[in-house]
Amino acid sequence: MPPATFQNIPTGCAKLDEILGGGFSPGELSLIYGEAETAKTTLAMQCAVNCAAMGFKTLFVDSDGTFSARRLSQIAMYHDFDKIAERIILAKPKDFREQAMVINRLADYLTKDFRLVVVDTLTSLYRAELAENPERTFEINRELNRQMAWLAQTARAGKLAVIVVSQVRSVLDEAIVSVEPVATRVLKFWADAILAMKPTENEEVIKVSIEKKGRATGFVSCYLRIEERGLVDYYPQKIEG
Ligand SMILES: Nc1ncnc2c1ncn2[C@@H]1O[C@H](COP(=O)(O)OP(=O)(O)O)[C@@H](O)[C@H]1O
Ligand SMILES: [Mg+2]
Repeated sequence: MPPATFQNIPTGCAKLDEILGGGFSPGELSLIYGEAETAKTTLAMQCAVNCAAMGFKTLFVDSDGTFSARRLSQIAMYHDFDKIAERIILAKPKDFREQAMVINRLADYLTKDFRLVVVDTLTSLYRAELAENPERTFEINRELNRQMAWLAQTARAGKLAVIVVSQVRSVLDEAIVSVEPVATRVLKFWADAILAMKPTENEEVIKVSIEKKGRATGFVSCYLRIEERGLVDYYPQKIEG
C-alpha cells in the first residue's frame, strides 16, 4: 500500500474511481463544473465523507451556503455520523472578500490530518461581486485567478487534494454571457483534473465526463444516479461520442 500521504480520495463510485485512476489525487487541483442540480455538491460531500472514513479531515468552504447536515447524514449513512461530521470543517464566507481571506489563510489552518479541501462553489461570490461592481471587472477577474493559483499551490505544497466546484449557466442566461468564458478559462487553466457534470434525459442520471486528469487528456465518461445515499454507478453504461 502506498504511504497514507499519497492516497487518493475515492468518490465511492467504482466506475468513476476507475476512470479517475483511483479518485482525486493529493497534490492536484480538480475542477468539477456543471449546471445547477447536476450533483456537484453531492459529489464533493461524498468525497469529504470518504476522506473522513479514511481518518482524515476536510476543509469544506461552503461559499454557496448549500452544505446541509441532513444531506451529510444521508451520504454518511453507512458510517458513524459523529466521527464523519467532526472531520469535516466548514467555512462559510459571506462575500468574495471573505472567500479570499479563507483561501489566503489555508496554509495556517490545514494541519497534517487534512487531506482534502473543497470550495463549493468558487464562482458564486465572484459573480455577486462582479454584479455589484462592474467597473472593477478587471480587478475581480485578477482576484479569481489569484485564488485559483493559490489553491493549486496549496494542493502541491501540502500534498492535498483540492476540489473546486463551479456552476455554469445555460448560454441563454444573458447577464452571464460576458463573464462566463473568462471565469471558465481561468478555472480550467489552473485545474490538473477537470470533470464536467451534465444532466441526461433521466433526471436522476448524470453524465460525468473527465476532460483532463493529470497528464492525460481525452473524454472518458460514465453515468451516475442520484440516490438518497448519494451518487452511485449507473448501468448499463450508454456509450456515446
Ligand atoms: N435525499 C435525496 N435523494 C435523492 N435525490 C436527492 C436527495 N437530496 C438531493 N437530491 C437531488 O440531488 C440533485 C443534485 O443536488 P446537488 O448535489 O445539490 O447539485 P448541484 O450542487 O450540482 O446543484 C438535486 O436534483 C436534488 O434533487
Ligand atoms: Mg451545489
